[in-house]
Amino acid sequence: MTQQSEDIVVPAAAPTFEPSERGSEWWRSAVIYQIYPRSFADASGDGVGDLAGITSRLPALATLDIDAIWLSPFYTSPQRDGGYDVSDYCDIDPLFGTLEDFDRMRAAAHELGIRVIVDLVPNHSSDQHVWFQEALAAGPGSEERARYMFREGRGDNGELPPNNWQSVFGGPAWTRVTEADGSLGQWYLHLFDSTQPDFDWTNRWVRDQFVDILRFWLDRGVDGFRVDVAHGMIKADGLPDYTPPADGASMGGGSATLEPGISDEPLDDPPYWGQEGVHEIYREWREVLDSYPGDRILAAEAWVDPLPKVAKWVRPDEMHQAFNFAYLETPWEAAALRTVIDESLKAFNDVGAPSTWVLSNHDVVRHASRLALTSDHLQGHGVGPLSEGKPDNAVGLRRARAATTMMLALPGSAYIYQGEELGLPEAIELPDSARQDPTWFRTDGERYGRDGCRVPIPWEAGAPAFGFSQTGKSWLPQPVDWATYARDAQTGVAGSTLELYRSALALRSEHGLGLGTLEWQDGYGDDVIAYRNGDVLVVSNAGTTPVTLPSGADVLLSSDAVPSAELGPDTTVWLRA
Ligand code: NOJ
Repeated sequence: MTQQSEDIVVPAAAPTFEPSERGSEWWRSAVIYQIYPRSFADASGDGVGDLAGITSRLPALATLDIDAIWLSPFYTSPQRDGGYDVSDYCDIDPLFGTLEDFDRMRAAAHELGIRVIVDLVPNHSSDQHVWFQEALAAGPGSEERARYMFREGRGDNGELPPNNWQSVFGGPAWTRVTEADGSLGQWYLHLFDSTQPDFDWTNRWVRDQFVDILRFWLDRGVDGFRVDVAHGMIKADGLPDYTPPADGASMGGGSATLEPGISDEPLDDPPYWGQEGVHEIYREWREVLDSYPGDRILAAEAWVDPLPKVAKWVRPDEMHQAFNFAYLETPWEAAALRTVIDESLKAFNDVGAPSTWVLSNHDVVRHASRLALTSDHLQGHGVGPLSEGKPDNAVGLRRARAATTMMLALPGSAYIYQGEELGLPEAIELPDSARQDPTWFRTDGERYGRDGCRVPIPWEAGAPAFGFSQTGKSWLPQPVDWATYARDAQTGVAGSTLELYRSALALRSEHGLGLGTLEWQDGYGDDVIAYRNGDVLVVSNAGTTPVTLPSGADVLLSSDAVPSAELGPDTTVWLRA
């Protein structure tokens, strides 16, 4: 049964969080745990996770030594893209509860010393948002239409879309509307699903609405915002046609996809990503955040490359953090990892920002599966004819544990996605009938989409829905063998993935690694990543043969349940330096 929060004292009013007093700069070294609310814990029993469920499970999270939680959207939404299609930015969808549930959750988190970051979705709203409905009703040329990207079509009768842009989820990025008189009319831009119309961020009215939205949540005591599609809000003047490179390179360098590849050479930016104009928006937001007590933060989801470009989002007067997707995309190869770590530290340090590190989130194949795959399809995996088949979960988990143990000793801020601390693999055998990601539908099943990393997580091996929901319901089916991954099956079990994460996070904090400095260590061979951070020596073997460790080394932590004098393949250790 999902526990309720009897053991949490919720203060009547706790508008700010004491530990984030201005100047603490807690975000420089923070470990931030991502909650995907639909799949975390379901208190209402309808099979969809909710805010009361999160509150009930906060004490379990607090044992992980995390600094903050980031919640994917819980706002009012038709849920066409898992809540990234918002129809009211200042209310909670009934699926997830009420504003009072949010206040309780926020207060309970603060009481436990955990800060709360919410997701802001400014590139687009839902087509059900009243602003878009008013735009449709008001017709061409109206102030209401100017909130969004409406354009006349091309061709003799406007029958062709205004340009050739493609949606991230597949298919054209334009949809034609039927005007009030029944005639076919203008087109509107949607870089994602057709139910997610893009705002026109050159419009001051739009900017003012979002400043109000920021203030609404800051007044409610949130500690920051993860900003969705922070690289996409401004489009190039004239909306020129754009053809992505044939190799389908990165979002920063090419196609409209959430599946970037690291390009060897900087490519031209597509006219919808990474335009200079976005930065003045964040400068304005930074002023708003800085006018509030405490250190409140902005974290950018900016799929651009190369890394020095990402660093533009975290210049001193803009955001505080940007996700390091170049790191997430790097395969489990020592040379590539050393390079991306160097480039990350340099790029972010050059602008005075911390690097961030991340291996999984709600948009990519979980790294406990991904690291055992050879295909470069980050976004979704399945077992159909288009896929390379099932990854070896044992290999994947071993690599994931090694990769995470290597990551958590790096200086900077680290992100953890719910369930990775349990070693959860991607759920690749979801029945097609269960899939919900718009990517699956918009590509006619050619791309599986992201459902496999969003399956509700297991808490109790023997409970209905593995403790996710007392009724046993689950909006995506949980694989039957997930009892072995359940939190209660791992708690206190030496060598379990959960205990590995707990130990790593506790040691990271004890040794101040997040604020430390990296010094590479030579002499371990090409397949090894070896560095010192303060008094911790990290040695990570990404090769296939064992590596000799310094004799008499004091092992602080090992990603292998059975550490030995030699470091086996796909293993990381932390030694006392
Ligand atoms: C990025 C989010 O992480 C993803 O889940 C969402 O589908 C798109 N932005 C569109 O909002």
